[in-house]
Amino acid sequence: MNVHIDQAKRILAANDRGGYTVPTDRLYPFQWNWDSAFVAMGFALYDIDRAYRELERLVEGQWADGMIPHIVFHAPSDTYFPGPNVWRTKHRIPTSGITQPPVFAIALRRLHEAAGSDAEERTLRLYEAALKWHRWWYSARDPDGTGLVALLHPWESGSDNSPAWDIALARVPTTTDTPVERKDTGHVDADMRPRDEDYRRFIHLVDTYAACGWDPAKQWEKAPFKVAEIQTTAILLKAGEDLEALARAFGRVDDVAELAAFNVLTRKGILAQWRPALSRFISRDLLSGQDIEAATQAGFIPLLSVDLEKPVADALVDEMKAWSKSLKVAFPTTKPGIRSWEPKRYWRGPAWAIINWLLIDGLTRNGHADSAEELRKSTIAAIEAEGFAEYFDPVTGEGCGGQGFSWTAAAYLWLERRVVPAHKNQMSEHK
Ligand code: SER
Repeated sequence: MNVHIDQAKRILAANDRGGYTVPTDRLYPFQWNWDSAFVAMGFALYDIDRAYRELERLVEGQWADGMIPHIVFHAPSDTYFPGPNVWRTKHRIPTSGITQPPVFAIALRRLHEAAGSDAEERTLRLYEAALKWHRWWYSARDPDGTGLVALLHPWESGSDNSPAWDIALARVPTTTDTPVERKDTGHVDADMRPRDEDYRRFIHLVDTYAACGWDPAKQWEKAPFKVAEIQTTAILLKAGEDLEALARAFGRVDDVAELAAFNVLTRKGILAQWRPALSRFISRDLLSGQDIEAATQAGFIPLLSVDLEKPVADALVDEMKAWSKSLKVAFPTTKPGIRSWEPKRYWRGPAWAIINWLLIDGLTRNGHADSAEELRKSTIAAIEAEGFAEYFDPVTGEGCGGQGFSWTAAAYLWLERRVVPAHKNQMSEHK
């Protein structure tokens, strides 16, 4: 019996607050959007009812326009900043006003496949929510029809302080109407967290959008930060494929056509972001019109959702290997050794189990099962050595950030199972 499986399940149970799971106690005391999608996939392996519940509770926060917010504040807590009084949103329960990577439909398809016809009504209700959210992505965040979706706040990427934002975020003023009263640095070492200056900019953006009444069109017009982002777009495409598969299974002919058109557009948009000289895909800063060439993990995530030509997939894998050379734990969220690389600071270098999970699925999809297996083993070993940390220092392997972390537990449960190389265009199969 693998004791780590028990530990992972115990973490998910300890972080349960009544049908939803907090990412970790105190540091993140509410329901986070993409965390919950990963957690639901973890639950799906042993408690399918609880897995559905996770997504259903997240959808309680869905706005009338379809947006699913990045935080749902189901119950008050004073251990987190910024709380509901800073966001000033108008939904019937308090939520943040921004969104997060749409892993939701990827999770939903896995839940549906695990539950089968027993949960058809539950799947359908969540399917409708996902479809509304995907429509929101295309109307609110790609009004020009490029196929790439834009983020208006770095937190929407989930990779809050990635070097990818350094240039675009430097243009955002550090002035705020809201006093910045950080709580995160009371829970974990300040050297592992974003800097104060980053926080002032994060909150400036919240103030700006709250002043727009959270209206998507007004925000689009006023946004001092607007990035067509490759990781989020690649996740949206994988989720779009999974939603299209569900639409087909439910005989929703019109939805199939609508989703297929989104997916075709986005596939084309992503392929246009390939930069052979960098051996990566890149994001674009929509305010400056410049490419974002910062060397981060985001440039590899299209492996997840595009069947790439062999030379492209091979180039990505070679580049990933070059970044991972001499690291104890892959995959680093910033290229080791460059100026912005900080192996312990949140999204500026550390390895994250859920990013590895996406990359493992992507490598498998694109015919690199050996590299996928290597990364899977490295992720499992890191967790077994250091516990269910928020993330890992790739050089020393040290578990950093919050401990007893839900999505690391979910990733462990998923990745611990043997990966069988998938056929093209299919998820990895596990048993
Ligand atoms: N990750 C952000 C935080 O650290 C918000 O989503 O609070």
